[in-house]
Amino acid sequence: MNNNILPPKNKEYLTLAIETSCDETSAAVVRGGKVVLSNIISSQIEIHKEYGGVVPEIASRHHLENINIIIKEALDHAKVNFEGIDFIGVTSGPGLVGALLVGISTAKALSYALNIPLVGVHHIEGHICANYLQHPDLHPPFIGIVVSGGHTHIVDIYDDLSYHVLGRTRDDAVGEAFDKVARVLGLGYPGGPAIDLLSQSGDPYAIDFPRSYLEHNSLDFSFSGIKTAVLNHINSEKQKGNEIHQADVAASFQMAVVEVIVNKTIRAAEQTNRDTIAMAGGVAANSLLRKMLKDKCAEKGMKLYYPSLELCTDNAAMIGCAAYLNYMKGKIDYLDLDANPNLKL
Ligand code: KG4
Ligand code: ZN
Repeated sequence: MNNNILPPKNKEYLTLAIETSCDETSAAVVRGGKVVLSNIISSQIEIHKEYGGVVPEIASRHHLENINIIIKEALDHAKVNFEGIDFIGVTSGPGLVGALLVGISTAKALSYALNIPLVGVHHIEGHICANYLQHPDLHPPFIGIVVSGGHTHIVDIYDDLSYHVLGRTRDDAVGEAFDKVARVLGLGYPGGPAIDLLSQSGDPYAIDFPRSYLEHNSLDFSFSGIKTAVLNHINSEKQKGNEIHQADVAASFQMAVVEVIVNKTIRAAEQTNRDTIAMAGGVAANSLLRKMLKDKCAEKGMKLYYPSLELCTDNAAMIGCAAYLNYMKGKIDYLDLDANPNLKL
């Protein structure tokens, strides 16, 4: 296998990228790590909705059914064939192990059959890179705030692919908290968009849910307390025979969570003397988070970047960008590349 060649610089490599870490089967063709020629995303949301969340076994089976079709679509849309692809990028973790394995096995088979290099990518690194695809003027150093269904990280990005993790969740990820509260309110899966929408007709200060800041100066997060607080509020209102004001609960929950994320992100930038923040991950689609962080950044004279809605949630284009940056730094994987559900950043 010819996949140990270090890359010459200045080449407009075509990357075929694959993402199957959770419930989106996605393939993309990206040129030079920046130009998205195609980004096909097949969401399994409708399938998992019935169960109120992602069922790992079902996710794996659907990735397996869809992956070849999605890859063909990505190539067709980009008007290239396999021979035009220079290397394969694939999410190797973190994520659901069975789901990751579908993407990784496909990527390994393609790398072997086409005799081209393989690059495993950290999913969170991919989310951060979604910003590079749309904001060519964004360069390190900056503070990355990654908020998704599986992760909540504040990261100091001091060079391409070089990070210090400044804070992370100690329990639930923020998207997980949105999804769990939505389930309690009977809003279905995924909960984030439903809470975002319902909150628009609610009073964000109707209920004083706890803001968990942890120890003085800590940049870590904790979202399990607010989830319990929402549950307690609903149970106690029911016991009193009161009607639940769903929109007020949603809006108050959202405000409590967003306030903490915004304040800690700004504090991280101040502590590290960074004047630029980039947000990423599914929860970066949240309208209140976007607005409050934008206002706060404007007040502090900081620049804020976030991807368009399609590139906030899971997609292969962001993996293509991250794979390119890794490859240009000489990172190459081999046929022993394995899924790592707990891969650390
Ligand atoms: O990044 P992502 O697609 O998958 C993971 O890597 O986890 O994020 C999915 C998460 C879900 O928890 C979903 O509820 C949340 O992002 N989400 C939102 C919004 N859109 C998606 N949360 C809050 N507000 C939204 N508008
Ligand atoms: Zn994700």
